[in-house]
Amino acid sequence: MCGIVGYVGREQAAPILLEGLSRLEYRGYDSAGICVSADGRLQLSKSKGRLQNLIEKTENGALLPGTLGIGHTRWATHGEPNDINSHPHLSQGGKIALVHNGIIENYLELRQFLQAKGVQFASETDSEVVAQLLEFYYLQTHSVFDALYMVLHRIEGAYALGILCADEPDRIYAARKDAPLLLGYGNGCNFIASDVTALVKHTRTVAYMEDGEVAVLTRDSIRVFDAMEQEVQKERHFVDWEISAAEKGGYPHFMLKEIMEEPDAVRRTISPRLKGGRITLDDLTLTRQELEGFSRICIIACGSSYHVGVIGKYNIEKLARIPVEVTLASEFRYCDPLVDEKTLVLVISQSGETLDTMAAMREAKARGARVLSIVNVVGSSIARESDDVLYTWAGPEIAVATTKAFSTQLVLLDMIALYFADLLGRIAPERYQALVDEISRLPEKMEAILQDCKGIQHYASQYFNHESIFFIGRNLDYALGLEGSLKLKEISYIHSEAYASGELKHGTISLVEQGTLVVALSTYSPLFDKAMSNVVEVKARGAQVLALTTARHRAEMEKNADAILTIPETEDMFLPSLGVIPLQLFAYYMALQRGCDIDKPRNLAKSVTVE
Ligand code: M6R
Repeated sequence: MCGIVGYVGREQAAPILLEGLSRLEYRGYDSAGICVSADGRLQLSKSKGRLQNLIEKTENGALLPGTLGIGHTRWATHGEPNDINSHPHLSQGGKIALVHNGIIENYLELRQFLQAKGVQFASETDSEVVAQLLEFYYLQTHSVFDALYMVLHRIEGAYALGILCADEPDRIYAARKDAPLLLGYGNGCNFIASDVTALVKHTRTVAYMEDGEVAVLTRDSIRVFDAMEQEVQKERHFVDWEISAAEKGGYPHFMLKEIMEEPDAVRRTISPRLKGGRITLDDLTLTRQELEGFSRICIIACGSSYHVGVIGKYNIEKLARIPVEVTLASEFRYCDPLVDEKTLVLVISQSGETLDTMAAMREAKARGARVLSIVNVVGSSIARESDDVLYTWAGPEIAVATTKAFSTQLVLLDMIALYFADLLGRIAPERYQALVDEISRLPEKMEAILQDCKGIQHYASQYFNHESIFFIGRNLDYALGLEGSLKLKEISYIHSEAYASGELKHGTISLVEQGTLVVALSTYSPLFDKAMSNVVEVKARGAQVLALTTARHRAEMEKNADAILTIPETEDMFLPSLGVIPLQLFAYYMALQRGCDIDKPRNLAKSVTVE
């Protein structure tokens, strides 16, 4: 959730830290802080609110001279967002400055332990406990390294830590467990960061820290030690995207830029996997025999990635005839799940760091399940811990609301469905061919939708004052509605619900009254007539209906709906891939009309690394 950056080198650290934080702000943005070490002094500056406040307060870093420092942008868990609760935290004696991402579960017990020893706390955070405990042991051992291992043995929970010690003005310490932390190898300088976006301006050579590891960075070296304090050699990876991928490039918001990038992102995801008219999943080691051995598939994910799973269930079951269960990762962990070695677990995650998803995946693995993950961030924890990983090639996604990552996850899951159906011999060759051919046409069709978004903008200007909106649909349209509704509430703060149309009459229709806006999703041809009946039903109760349908059903829909958005024709299974784009744009323009902070919606963060 929070963003961490650290720099040790020859240049002034503060401007580099602030620039790095600006790229991490999407991970958390209720306060920010930096600490720069110079001549044995730890100089601290923190500020509530957006990073801009800190930039102004420090005169873009000029007020904190020094070539070594750590920075943090926060998404509050313990203690309200204010200057004191912001990171870095300084220990009572001023020896230690620390930034932390994650949650220390036993912080209350440790706080009491330290208070009994006379330590006074400045903040309400769990993170300060780590800084104070580190100083407590450091004063006994006179070695930050030894003290840090003593701390790591006592703290429970998740953490990525960046640490400075006033007495060691040439180095940064870092440690990680269940929260992402990267090491960046520069020329005469080195870095830590919670996310590669903070590093690419300076270096593309990175290493991923593993759970239990401790790193010691000076400007000329990075040494890494495992949980047993043994030095380990890290594998270095090259990050192959340009810094421009993480910049707005003339768009007013990252979200709009990322929606516009969807056709290319989907192209990048499908092209290397379409060879000679067939789907080739080179990275997948699963054999036909192994696939036949699974009695079912269990999809685990959160938020929008979960919605991809809901759509995937319809398509996998229909094509490959394998039973699929889709479970929210946060529920899966605690439901004594019925998975074993006969279960294939599909994990879907953009960030590859969502804590609930990771914990659910570990639970599934512990019960013998085989894990195949769909992940966007290369080298992320979920990717590394899966038996197989298929990457989406969406590129860095900065806006909190996911758009292009969603589209790439969806098309990749559809490819998996087709691949499984073919491998198991459950699809006729001609049908397989028709569907594979259609996959390669999707990017073009997406472009066509994006070329004409004036209608969507117009409807948003008409409807943005509504305070409650319903999304209804059947089958794939219902699953699509879940995503449309989440997108809308996430960035525009309008209350909205997604319902399977057939369920309306079992309760929810009581909420439909004169003027209620209902977004009727009616793209799925086999059930178009039923979708139409539901439109008539809500119209009869006074609803205004904005319908989403395909070109061929437009004329019919015009008889009842107040407003219509259309998407091009495609094979049924791919309808959500096209249908989601108008819904993303609708949410975007609604939020724009309402003056919302679209890329950084309130209370949210991009990567949810706390439970
Ligand atoms: O990184 P993940 O795909 O694991 O994230 C899961 C959800 O937190 C994420 O999809 C969230 O719902 C989005 N902000 C929705 O736009």
